[in-house]
Amino acid sequence: MTSNELRQKFLDFFEEKGHKVISSSSLIPDNDPTVLFTTAGMQQFKPFYAEPDKAPYASVASVQKCLRTSDIEEVGDDTHLTFFEMLGNFSFGYPEKKDSYFKKEAISFAWEFLTGKLKVDKSRIYATYFKGEKGIPEDKESLEILKKIKDLKKIEPQGFEDNFWSLGTEGSPGGPTVEFYIDGIEIWNLVFNEYSLQKGKYEPLKHKGVDTGMGLERLLTTLNGHKDVYETDLCLPLIEKIEEISGKKYKENENLFRIICDHIKTAVFAVNDGILPSNKEAGYVVRRIIRRAIVKGHQLGINKNFTSDFVDIVSAIYKETYKIQADKVKKELESEEERFRKTLKMGLAQFNKTIQNYRDSKGEKVSELYTGEAYEFEEILPGKVIFDLYQTYGFPIELTKELAQEKELDVDEKGFQEEFKKHQDLSRTASAGMFKGGLADSGDPQVVKYHTAAHLLLAALQEVLGEHVHQKGSNLTADRLRLDFSHPEKLTDEERQKVEDWVNDKIEKKLEVHLDECDLETAKSKGAEGEFTEKYGDKVKVYSIGGDLSSKEAVSKEICGGPHVENTGELGHFRIKNETSSSKGVRRIKATLE
Ligand code: ALA
Repeated sequence: MTSNELRQKFLDFFEEKGHKVISSSSLIPDNDPTVLFTTAGMQQFKPFYAEPDKAPYASVASVQKCLRTSDIEEVGDDTHLTFFEMLGNFSFGYPEKKDSYFKKEAISFAWEFLTGKLKVDKSRIYATYFKGEKGIPEDKESLEILKKIKDLKKIEPQGFEDNFWSLGTEGSPGGPTVEFYIDGIEIWNLVFNEYSLQKGKYEPLKHKGVDTGMGLERLLTTLNGHKDVYETDLCLPLIEKIEEISGKKYKENENLFRIICDHIKTAVFAVNDGILPSNKEAGYVVRRIIRRAIVKGHQLGINKNFTSDFVDIVSAIYKETYKIQADKVKKELESEEERFRKTLKMGLAQFNKTIQNYRDSKGEKVSELYTGEAYEFEEILPGKVIFDLYQTYGFPIELTKELAQEKELDVDEKGFQEEFKKHQDLSRTASAGMFKGGLADSGDPQVVKYHTAAHLLLAALQEVLGEHVHQKGSNLTADRLRLDFSHPEKLTDEERQKVEDWVNDKIEKKLEVHLDECDLETAKSKGAEGEFTEKYGDKVKVYSIGGDLSSKEAVSKEICGGPHVENTGELGHFRIKNETSSSKGVRRIKATLE
């Protein structure tokens, strides 16, 4: 059976049972600030469980695209994915609302679909139900209904962890579940919403509802007798493309292939729905997923841009179901990969060198420890090394972890956090002095202009060179600005030109400069750049250019005391006078406004 046939069979079945078929909603939930992504079919219907009067139909069915990162560590096994589709049927407002239904109908629909429509051998199926736990009573009603199914051979009681479901956020509906398994694999989750999560407690809901979810990829795997989800028509073309690009065999590199396949597909759908890679919230998750795919590709020996090569294939796989705006998605993936490869290249060289040095030094100790018997020696990458990779090359700890794992090294996460903290304290102390020197004549109108230009310059450097760039110091006079920033090598002529052009472009656009005041955490979460010069909870000023702190359009957001010009149009022409080394890993630019 093909994935297209299976989707259709499911929707036709429920339409015949009086359900209204509803299209998949976006991966960005439009009605729920408590979650980042659509993770389940019920997401778009969530408000109807508490307020069924607002539901245009009492019972609906859908095939919903979902993005879930809770199981990301499991991706690479036979069944877990971060992007998947959920087949679901739903009912609201039972029993008052006309045509609504509850446990009896939901369980019998599921049994009929699996055994009647799909003709799954009944002996392969078993069911579980909620046995009662955490002050919530046993779901006796479901047990009695299940017992009446003649050919259902096994019914297992399970606790809260397995057989109670809710989104888990405040105000979410939730309830006991019945789950159907085929050959021991969980296939269909039937949730009976009888509760609502209120201030951490499950309180009874006035109206009852049904929310079911069945993974399309898993079901298809089972029906076709595949070994895993990657053999289905939803994944196989991508696996084949990875073989083509890498020149490696899937069978010899299953784990890497699977992660790349899953993550790139997730990225394509996320970007298609408007979740662009960025440094915060959903965008940050997407960025990490893309970068993880690139790192895995690197491990397979792929050293050129490759993520956008998959867009047309994803588009073809799903052409009957979803419209992929291929050009837009390709462009985003390409620019993200371009950016990341710069950082990756420098960081990897450094990483390998560091590991070698570290191993050389450890090697002596290993032989000291060796007693002639078998010895056990666990290698751990120290926090300081992880921090340096983070600080200088923008390597997130997750990436270092992956690379370390490949070399059979553990990482000292706690040590990393301690280094991080130490750095914060240091820059706090340093900032007092820096601020004084940096803005000696802060009242001078020309200095104010240079101050704003310095923000644009930092943003330009991050844009052109990568995210490892951070400010390391600045000094402004009426004649020039001087900015020190982290970057390991001299800028090429081309990079220097790009930086200059970027700044002048923002000046020509006459962008407004906005001031927001908020606490440090809010500033950070909205993507503001800045040294950790304030303490947790402190109020900070954030200057944003081309939009305010909350806007996506802003080209620069920086925590800073000011003052600044009101509009970049006031700055004149920006020119880099020279670029030199300041200290190890730190470059210095002097620039003027003309
Ligand atoms: N909402 C339920 C789930 O995601 C069906 O498992």
